[in-house]
Amino acid sequence: MSLQGEFSINCSARTISESGTHCEHCSRAVTRQSFSSLLAEPLQQVNRTWVLFRGKQLTYFGGCDYFRLASHPEIISAFNEGVKRFGLNVAASRFTTGNHRLYERLEDELCRFFGVESATLVSSGYATNLVLAQALAGEFSHALIDSRAHQSLYDCLPFLQCPHSKFAHAHVPALQAAIRKRKASRIVLLTDGLFSHDGSLAPLQTYLDVLPGGSRIIVDDAHGAGTIGQRGRGAAEALGVSSNKIIQTVSLSKAFGVYGGAILGDDALRRKLLCGSRLMRGNTPLPLPLAHAAFRALQLLRSDRSLRKRLEDNTRSVQTALQRDGLSFPQPPTPIIAVNPSNPAAARRFSSRLMRHKIFPTQIQYGNSAPYFRFAISSEHTREQLDGLISACLSA
Ligand SMILES: Cc1ncc(COP(=O)(O)O)c(C=O)c1O
Repeated sequence: MSLQGEFSINCSARTISESGTHCEHCSRAVTRQSFSSLLAEPLQQVNRTWVLFRGKQLTYFGGCDYFRLASHPEIISAFNEGVKRFGLNVAASRFTTGNHRLYERLEDELCRFFGVESATLVSSGYATNLVLAQALAGEFSHALIDSRAHQSLYDCLPFLQCPHSKFAHAHVPALQAAIRKRKASRIVLLTDGLFSHDGSLAPLQTYLDVLPGGSRIIVDDAHGAGTIGQRGRGAAEALGVSSNKIIQTVSLSKAFGVYGGAILGDDALRRKLLCGSRLMRGNTPLPLPLAHAAFRALQLLRSDRSLRKRLEDNTRSVQTALQRDGLSFPQPPTPIIAVNPSNPAAARRFSSRLMRHKIFPTQIQYGNSAPYFRFAISSEHTREQLDGLISACLSA
């Protein structure tokens, strides 16, 4: 069976059920032979905002390299310098012989950037939530998770060692009903800060208001970190919320363009992470050139305000144009535009229109939810590229 076209862009599935007839994550018909087509078709980057796709050069609004730091000359040069000076790998956990002053410098820079007492480096953004849950195991009587939370937050639930339940996405009455039903006093709420599927923000202040005392909120801010808030500190800063009940986890692979992740909080939390997580203790840390490049990326984003200003201007210009056509966007603005075609035929038509406007059709599907189009605006897209996106969406 050929699945050419059907899986041409994206599918989150990675496994096929025993029968080999449908994917256990997205329920699409697949065979064992078609396994490789579950991955997206490879794309070739041509330069910072263009890709080569099926022989055509197209504007790229995919990925989440919001400032294109992954190809910024200073970040590349920090990486190359890191290779020359330090080699690749410490080949041991930081608890044995694998600690290095670069990791400590990077953690200090993370503290400065995010204005927190402690930052604990983890080898990926995905792993931050797992490490955190291992360290907090047994502290809570119930976990409540937003139904659209990132899969890494779902994966960390078993480590928390308490019952858990879902509440409807960002829906405060549903959350309140769940709190009443559980009669739990020590709740941990798990949510993304900036949801990448539609650019919305978690209503963090309301969550703080309705949660019982003794509760905590784990905010996976992989997309908010670096991109939103006056200093790029993420969802809580963008919403004007500050609370020591919030624990923020961040990725260095999106706005910072490199790789790795960090858990932000106070010294007491750091102590728990270092003492209470097996993953933290047994994992080789980030390759040293990446740590060196991430350090430079944080410094650059902290000192060069023009990057964030350009991202805000680009976001505002696209959203303002689309708002005039009746589309609405979450407030405060975030650099993600989601377009949900009403049916597969409308999706195919939109995809063709994007191609005509020389835009790569970034179609996304998570699990069983309907496929949709997501456009991540960057600080480096040109006026012409943004106008192309506006025209394609307006004629939708
Ligand atoms: C919300 C969210 N959390 C965590 C991750 C994982 O981060 P990383 O790619 O750094 O492992 C992602 C990556 O897509 C994400 O979107």
